[in-house]
Amino acid sequence: MNKSASFTAPLLASRLLSSKIKELKFLWNGAAPEAGQFFMLKPPGARTFLCRPFGVASAENGEISFIIEEKGEGSAALLALIPGAPVELTGPLGNSFERLIPAGASRLALVSGGTGIAPLRHLAARRENFEPPRNGAECASSINKIQKISFFAGFKHGFNNKTINPLFEGLLPLVEHFVFASEDGVFPELSAKTGALSCKTAICSNHKGFVTDSLGEALKKEKFDAVIACGPPAMMSKTAALCRQADVCCIVSIERRMACGVGACLGCVVKTVHGNRRCCADGPVFNAKEIIW
Ligand SMILES: Cc1cc2nc3c(=O)[nH]c(=O)nc-3n(C[C@H](O)[C@H](O)[C@H](O)COP(=O)(O)OP(=O)(O)OC[C@H]3O[C@@H](n4cnc5c(N)ncnc54)[C@H](O)[C@@H]3O)c2cc1C
Ligand code: FES
Repeated sequence: MNKSASFTAPLLASRLLSSKIKELKFLWNGAAPEAGQFFMLKPPGARTFLCRPFGVASAENGEISFIIEEKGEGSAALLALIPGAPVELTGPLGNSFERLIPAGASRLALVSGGTGIAPLRHLAARRENFEPPRNGAECASSINKIQKISFFAGFKHGFNNKTINPLFEGLLPLVEHFVFASEDGVFPELSAKTGALSCKTAICSNHKGFVTDSLGEALKKEKFDAVIACGPPAMMSKTAALCRQADVCCIVSIERRMACGVGACLGCVVKTVHGNRRCCADGPVFNAKEIIW
């Protein structure tokens, strides 16, 4: 696991992904953070004096990126920044999906809700580079090459832009199967025919409804070695229940409001069967069967 550091870096680029979601990029010359790790971010001198946690969405070619949705004051301040503006970053923090993936696993289902797509995109990009699992990791035994990734991406509102949506750019070539679920039934242009997004290598399909409907159907037909989820609490507890029924290892990234981000303030408690755990320092990634939902 990389050592974390605090530093100030100028925002390299900011691009709009949907009306309230942007990707923010920074230069990064450290080793790539593991997937599921996060950074605490804030603009210096911002009125919100606490940093906000965001999962790493990519770390490639000397750059690191985050996919940030506007929720309140802290995220709005970050999304308002223009390239060149300084940002305080601390990270990489927390554990990672990679340490809990059942080694020997070759088929993964990744299930995201909203911006939960960010750390799972990074996970798909790192499929060749997983570290050996940590001792005592509940699901793990030995490491193997990932042969197949099925990615289930869920959104409340779909994307109806006919141009390439940068959120999916770069993700589709990394997976073998991609399901886009939107509650409003609006879908991005995924057709290989129009060339909008490359479904040349991945089998793509759309589903109107919850992303967990698609996962539930897939679990009936296919054997996954692990299901890895990141998104809103209701989506993750449903995912955990589906995996319990199907007897599949389920790994989740839990979100809590954070103050220090480094395990000092005990402000980010996650209730587990082993007692209270700190989301920032003991997580954010947990085996779903440890969580008291
Ligand atoms: C490990 C981790 C990784 C995360 N990764 C991402 C990411 O990649 N992209 C992204 O957009 N967001 C991510 N989040 C959530 C993000 O940290 C919050 O949306 C952000 O802190 C909200 O700050 P704010 O000042 O904008 O909103 P606030 O004004 O503080 O709150 C606005 C609303 O957001 C809710 N909220 C605040 N903090 C959290 C939180 N930590 N978890 C859930 N709800 C919260 C509040 O209850 C409130 O309803 C992550 C959170 C954690 C813990
Ligand atoms: S945010 Fe302080 S202990 Fe987790």
